[in-house]
Amino acid sequence: MEDADRGLSPQQAREIYFVTWVAACQVAELEDGVPLIRTVRSREMVLTRWRDEVFACRNVCPHHNASFAHGDVHLPIVGRSPREVTRSNTQPVLTCPWHLYEFDLRTGRCLGDPFFRVRAYEVLIDDATVYVELKER
Ligand code: FES
Repeated sequence: MEDADRGLSPQQAREIYFVTWVAACQVAELEDGVPLIRTVRSREMVLTRWRDEVFACRNVCPHHNASFAHGDVHLPIVGRSPREVTRSNTQPVLTCPWHLYEFDLRTGRCLGDPFFRVRAYEVLIDDATVYVELKER
């Protein structure tokens, strides 16, 4: 049922979410650039570490609903012409192992096709534990 069907304004709908931080894994379990699959409160997530940052996304590739297990994290090649080609230094992407679609780990947007987007979660690290933000009703 949609929020509008319940008679809720968008503002009211936003206020009824409960935001919780749930432990997903230990930082030491994450290998740089290697996806780790974990189920957090019945949501399957892919957790990744790239340099000093940790990211969490839903473990369902929107292209064909496949898992990101065995995918990898890297910096994408950017540039509008062959002479401009370089590697982005700030935008790590998760590559799906099935058809190699790349997803921005910060936003979940697919670089090659804006129609596709994977759910990206906020991440917090506290005392070597990785927490992900879940919004529940
Ligand atoms: S299933 Fe992920 S790119 Fe096709």
